[in-house]
Amino acid sequence: VQAASAPAFVPDMNRRVTMNFLLAGAIGAPAIGLAGPFALFFVPPSVGGGGGGTVAKDALGNDVKSTSWLATHPVGDRSLVQGLKADATYLIVNTEGSIEKYGLNAVCTHLGCVVPWNKAENKFMCPCHGSQYNAEGKKIRGPAPLSLALAHCDIVDDLVSFTPWTETDFRTGEKPWWS
Ligand code: FES
Repeated sequence: VQAASAPAFVPDMNRRVTMNFLLAGAIGAPAIGLAGPFALFFVPPSVGGGGGGTVAKDALGNDVKSTSWLATHPVGDRSLVQGLKADATYLIVNTEGSIEKYGLNAVCTHLGCVVPWNKAENKFMCPCHGSQYNAEGKKIRGPAPLSLALAHCDIVDDLVSFTPWTETDFRTGEKPWWS
């Protein structure tokens, strides 16, 4: 009997999958079930742009440029890009109309769903089990145990560039749990 157990495609439930949300418009569904050809699209990490940071990528895989991003994203906007280690990461347009000096890792610290931004509520609200984070990504409601991870976000030659955040978490005054 021919073995009929050819390994099925098992979605790699790591963070690459979360990038499908970027393509799906972060509609707020759980991260499961969206693995597909797009997962491969984001595999090659992009490093460069000077300063050794990781250049943010948009949903099409293009480098994110500060000027064009700000031309299409208003004050208060929080939209997903691909950040460090290809994690879905929120870029924040601050009240001065520039890109905030930190990005927020969109992966819920509970069980890893991508957390959508809820503009009307002014917070991030996880559809999976109800965790909530304020506009800075600080946990304000469980079951998530921790705040969203931070990454430094700098503009280098107009490119939006992330570097790891290893200092104190300014939201909690604690050492970063993610580094
Ligand atoms: Fe976000 Fe459980 S994964 S609340």
